Amino acid sequence: MDSILVKGGSALSGEIEIAGAKNAALTLMPVTLLSDEPLTLTNSPRLSDIKTMSALLKSLGTEVSSMQDGKTIVLSSHGLNSTHADYEIVRKMRASNLVLGPLLAREGHATVSLPGGCAIGARPMDIHITALEAMGAEIELKDGYLHAKTNGGLKGNLVPLRFASVGATENVLMAATLAKGTTVIENAAREPEIVDLARCLKAMGAQIEGEGTSRIEIQGVDRLHGATHRVVTDRIELGTYMLAPVIAGGEVECLGGKLELVQSFVEKLDASGVSVEETARGLKVKLNGDRPKAVDVVTEVFPGFPTDLQAQMMAMLCFADGTSVLEEKIFENRFMHAPELMRMGAKIDVHGGTATVTGVETLKGAPVMATDLRASVSLILAGLAAEGETLVNRVYHLDRGYERVEEKLGAVGAKIERIKGE
Ligand code: EPZ
Repeated sequence: MDSILVKGGSALSGEIEIAGAKNAALTLMPVTLLSDEPLTLTNSPRLSDIKTMSALLKSLGTEVSSMQDGKTIVLSSHGLNSTHADYEIVRKMRASNLVLGPLLAREGHATVSLPGGCAIGARPMDIHITALEAMGAEIELKDGYLHAKTNGGLKGNLVPLRFASVGATENVLMAATLAKGTTVIENAAREPEIVDLARCLKAMGAQIEGEGTSRIEIQGVDRLHGATHRVVTDRIELGTYMLAPVIAGGEVECLGGKLELVQSFVEKLDASGVSVEETARGLKVKLNGDRPKAVDVVTEVFPGFPTDLQAQMMAMLCFADGTSVLEEKIFENRFMHAPELMRMGAKIDVHGGTATVTGVETLKGAPVMATDLRASVSLILAGLAAEGETLVNRVYHLDRGYERVEEKLGAVGAKIERIKGE
């Protein structure tokens, strides 16, 4: 297993290219199952999760090829030979459950493993199940698999979500494009990745209105044709790299960054004394003064503060002048980075879903353990400013969601290298 070694103390300067969004690509790739014509995705990120989704789709019979050193993916599902998403793949990546809606819409049946828990929570699928049942699916849980089928195909219906689940919204949105009649999703998730998914589906002939609001209306059509779609910029990678110069010092321009992708995050940066300047090519970020100010953060569904930036924000607040309270309201166990940051000298008090961070002038480098994707990168961010060396182990978590992090940060002056494991 590889590790990443960071030597703290180097201010940053230069540009970081922000890649296409992992969480958009992972819902765009299963869209291939809805059509027998090719779907081409450009600006796709080069990540291990993308390889996992490719493997899953190939196991169903989709042909997947990539070009332009992985940034363009062509998917073709003219003939499927399976509707079984196996536990061995699904347990590695929860987003595999996004084949459920498309398989039901295309084939009328699917056997999809429940993902099982992961580091940040139990990750149930009750909202997906209730929603698809409202559209006429019969879904039974047996030996860890969801056995789903429809008699006569999915039917449009009113589908209220008890919680604005991103994945459930995506599964229903994809399924509804080929259902008979009209589907209305109430309390739909509003994340930019949902809007990007709708944009791709409409380019394929789907009839969708209201994406990006809490109410999405879909008129089912008989078939979808092929399309070429550019994956939206990754707002979580963007927010992550915006914090790098705030923590390490200096100024970085995040190419491809757009304010509307990170509005609530930037409001918190403004409050902590960070300047964010819109340029022709992205967002230029630097800290005013020598320490960020403490701010309180509550994670919410979009457009609120994103849970996927909570760990990174905590890393920044460890250095802030004052005490910050972070409330994690989306996942039940998303503070695993806190004990690792405390090994570096951070002062953090965790009680249930609330973490109180008392800022300190500096942290001390230490060997630390990555536990989940966003926790891993928060440890690297902290290491950029910690005294001495920080060795982040188990970076396979990191490679799921960040392409070549040591190259991107190294190119703007960070002292960072990957140490190949056995
Ligand atoms: C997506 O996960 C993202 N993953 C997550 O990013 C992100 O943290 C999450 O949305 C919230 O924004 C992808 O897009 C691939 P949810 P998803 O359904 O769809 C509960 C990352 O780091 N819930 O909105 O699984 C669930 O347990 C990852 O890139 C149910 O109870 O998120 C959680 O507490 C991590 N029942 C909350 O809702 C359900 O049926 C949010 O889940 C579904 C969800």
